[in-house]
Amino acid sequence: MEFRFDLNQIFKEPIVEINNSLTPPGYYGDKRALWDAQSKVSQIINAMGEASAHAQSLTKPITTSDRLRNSEHKLYLLIDQTANNGKGAVTGMLKTGEKGLYVFDREGQHYQVTPSCVLDFYIHESRQRSGFGKILFEYMLEKQQIEPVKMAIDRPSDKFLGFLNKHYGLNNPIKQMNNFVVFDGFFPKSMDSP
Ligand code: ACO
Repeated sequence: MEFRFDLNQIFKEPIVEINNSLTPPGYYGDKRALWDAQSKVSQIINAMGEASAHAQSLTKPITTSDRLRNSEHKLYLLIDQTANNGKGAVTGMLKTGEKGLYVFDREGQHYQVTPSCVLDFYIHESRQRSGFGKILFEYMLEKQQIEPVKMAIDRPSDKFLGFLNKHYGLNNPIKQMNNFVVFDGFFPKSMDSP
């Protein structure tokens, strides 16, 4: 996704993590420049949130800059720094965060947990199925030092379920009433056999 402004002036790396400050990582500048950068980050998040919702046939975006600002969620953006005549393009977005959930294992035993969750994930249509989703997801796993099986997934699409199966061997999802999905291995051993 392209923007009128130069993304390379805001983001110095091809993958960036944004939190509730909406400040680009490592950004330096006076107050006015910072406000301008935050406003651009806000535009990017809202546009990517809209595109993700559209791709998932949702009526409203899950991800907006206002929601991120009022949360402890982490949002990762994937940037093609060479696209758009050197101004760069945003090619992916991944949002994670902790949620307090009741989850059931296959035996119907329920647990109250606060796992890290995949909340929104989108790769631009022009780049899907080219390995970019894997690059972005792996970055997040490394940053958060977490295994995919330990994450709960909020309303996964068929494409994302295919992705998790292909790259991480996760199949046979345990669907929860709250629309989250977990996989075997989510529950610690002591939880598996309480
Ligand atoms: N149909 C079926 N499977 C797909 C598709 C598709 N159109 N696109 C990706 N996949 C799965 C397949 O397993 C595919 O492997 P294959 O091509 O060998 O069949 C694998 O993902 C490809 O891996 P990557 O190239 O690394 O993934 P990609 O860059 O396409 O990113 C993503 C995956 C984020 C799911 C992307 O396809 C996308 O944005 N889809 C539309 C939005 C969406 O469904 N987001 C997830 C919502 S659920 C949530 O956010 C919690």
